Amino acid sequence: MITSKELSLPLVRVTEAAALRAARTQGQGDKNRSDKAAVDAMRGMLDYLEIRGTVVIGEGEKDEAPMLYCGEVVGMQTADSIEVDIAVDPIDGTTLISKGLGNSISVIAMGPKGSMMNIPCYYALKLACGPKLRGYLDLNASLSSNIRIAAARLGKSYGDITVALLNRPRHDEYIKEIRSLGCRIKLIQDGDIAAAIATCDEDKGIDFYYGIGGAPEAVITAVAIKALEGDFQVRLWPSDPAEEMRLAEVDLNTSTVYTADDLAKGDDLMFSATGITDGELLPGVRFYGPKARTYSLLMRTETKTVRYVNAIHNLDHKTLPSRELQVELQI
Ligand code: FBP
Repeated sequence: MITSKELSLPLVRVTEAAALRAARTQGQGDKNRSDKAAVDAMRGMLDYLEIRGTVVIGEGEKDEAPMLYCGEVVGMQTADSIEVDIAVDPIDGTTLISKGLGNSISVIAMGPKGSMMNIPCYYALKLACGPKLRGYLDLNASLSSNIRIAAARLGKSYGDITVALLNRPRHDEYIKEIRSLGCRIKLIQDGDIAAAIATCDEDKGIDFYYGIGGAPEAVITAVAIKALEGDFQVRLWPSDPAEEMRLAEVDLNTSTVYTADDLAKGDDLMFSATGITDGELLPGVRFYGPKARTYSLLMRTETKTVRYVNAIHNLDHKTLPSRELQVELQI
């Protein structure tokens, strides 16, 4: 029986395949086509894994997503294979890739059955930071108070602190507050998984990530931040009473601050991301005639190993199973 440790390296093939397929659609102005390419490749590649997997975070509910929907069963399903929860974001940044902009990645997280929180809500308020700030920041405190603590702990002046946020009107008040303290702001157009991860690498120049983004993305981010020994806190942000009710039905609420350990339980978790378009976290896919190069980031929470995988694929010799067509296709 394959162990979870042995599964971590094969996991990179899943995000590589999704990135390779999606990268062909770069700049075509069609988000759905990009997403479909990535979903199809990811779905096909998952069936090569010796797992009994269930998609916990996916492309939506069964009636709205034909593949990688929440609850879908994936993997070889052999009797002695391990049971796992899977959280996928075949493309984080579908608008970015469709417009040919940087920072789109393909992402997956995997863990034992029951490890990943299923959140029936679209948005969450998130705070992510690196190891030096771990245990010091608090999502229950104001943004200004967190900035003060970050500056003191990092030995920086306010002017040296950089906070990353999604560029959304809902963040106008946060932006005002950050500016009033004289801190620097890094606005991102999309893709908050990569921005949260970047806080764990001092070289990336982001002291912490703050703001309201996708709740499913938060579960995947939690796995990465655990491996990187940073800190991640989340408060659920339902958009309407129906979402609030759905949260209550699964015993979740808007007053609790959920930690990375609540979102992704235990220490047998894996994460893989592959760059689709060039980004600050990972370079995008390069095509050279029959060959292509991908850049991925692979991590395990148990050992905290962080692997950067730079792969050259010979596309003449690379096939992918297509679930939809029930055949093997060239990438
Ligand atoms: P998609 O690739 O699914 O479009 O998500 C991109 C993203 O920017 C996420 O990284 C982020 O969590 C979410 O969208 C924010 O949602 P919204 O675009 O509605 O503000």
